[in-house]
Amino acid sequence: MITMKLTITKSSNFKTKPDPSSLSFGKHFTNHMLMMNYTEGEGWTSPQIVPYQPITLDPSAMSLHYSQSVFEGLKAYRTEDDRILLFRPEKNFERLNRSSDRLSIPAVNEELVLSYLKELLLLDKEWIPTTEGTSLYIRPFIIATEPNLSVAPSTTYTFMIILSPVGSYYAEGINPVSINVEEKFTRAVLGGTGTAKTAGNYSAAYKAQVGASGLGYSQVLWLDGIEKKYIEEVGSMNVFFKINGEVVTPALSGSILEGITRMSTIELLAEWGITVSERRLSMEELYQAYEKGELEEAFGTGTAAVISPIGELNWGDKKMVINNRQTGDLAKKLYDTLTGIQTGKIHDPFNWTV
Ligand code: COI
Repeated sequence: MITMKLTITKSSNFKTKPDPSSLSFGKHFTNHMLMMNYTEGEGWTSPQIVPYQPITLDPSAMSLHYSQSVFEGLKAYRTEDDRILLFRPEKNFERLNRSSDRLSIPAVNEELVLSYLKELLLLDKEWIPTTEGTSLYIRPFIIATEPNLSVAPSTTYTFMIILSPVGSYYAEGINPVSINVEEKFTRAVLGGTGTAKTAGNYSAAYKAQVGASGLGYSQVLWLDGIEKKYIEEVGSMNVFFKINGEVVTPALSGSILEGITRMSTIELLAEWGITVSERRLSMEELYQAYEKGELEEAFGTGTAAVISPIGELNWGDKKMVINNRQTGDLAKKLYDTLTGIQTGKIHDPFNWTV
């Protein structure tokens, strides 16, 4: 498998790059993409970089019916001295294989796919925007392609990587968002697929997301699916609280996605001498802390938005305004340090960037 040679077909139809000052999230795509197919007999073969284009799928392709698909999200940045930086990409490909395992999808060779990604980035490097707050979002994904309506794992798959120049994930940027605590719908339960980055987890969240948006909130705060008491995630991000000087984040309970920004935040805080308590945190405990004036900050962590401060939490008839709807000092310092390391603007003491 190590000798699997990557073939490259360059695009002759170069698209116009979007204006970096008006970039939103995930709407533009570069000139090339990577594809690789899997069959039961041959495993993953014939990796190829081809011009970005629509793909052909049989209408009975299994991923279209039973959502057997996984994905990843990471970002590339171009430094002032014209190097391309990736942030802990090996963690993404490790997680891709963990997600695949949960969805009964065959594993990819992590080192090989990272080497293909590097080739793809070199071809489309002019698409990596350099304006403040922008980056090139990288979306690796795997879909089940077997034409078959049986409810069973596919025997064929396609792995792809597409690239999208992006600005802020939330229109608010690093400004605090308002969040509604979701009490009816559940994102994930222990034993389910919550720890996997799989398509169905995200579309299953739309109903709650749309409901929150109708009430004027940017996203929802997810509670555990059994007791509806304990905090799990915020929107599609992990969540952190600063309570009376202590930083708390929900422990990886078996239904929470193991975020790479979450992990990096915990490691960065430890480096600063701040221990993060990874434990169960109930809404009741959070509300009591708020009433005592001890809820100092709340923020989400994720690849897309990096750090997203929470300015308001609405829990039924209780409203919590956090830090006067201002970005807290800790959230700001984390955002500046993480993006500083990611863009190569500040020293990376952890050797996270590649
Ligand atoms: C993230 O990177 O925070 C996400 O999970 C959002 C992504 C699926 C667009």
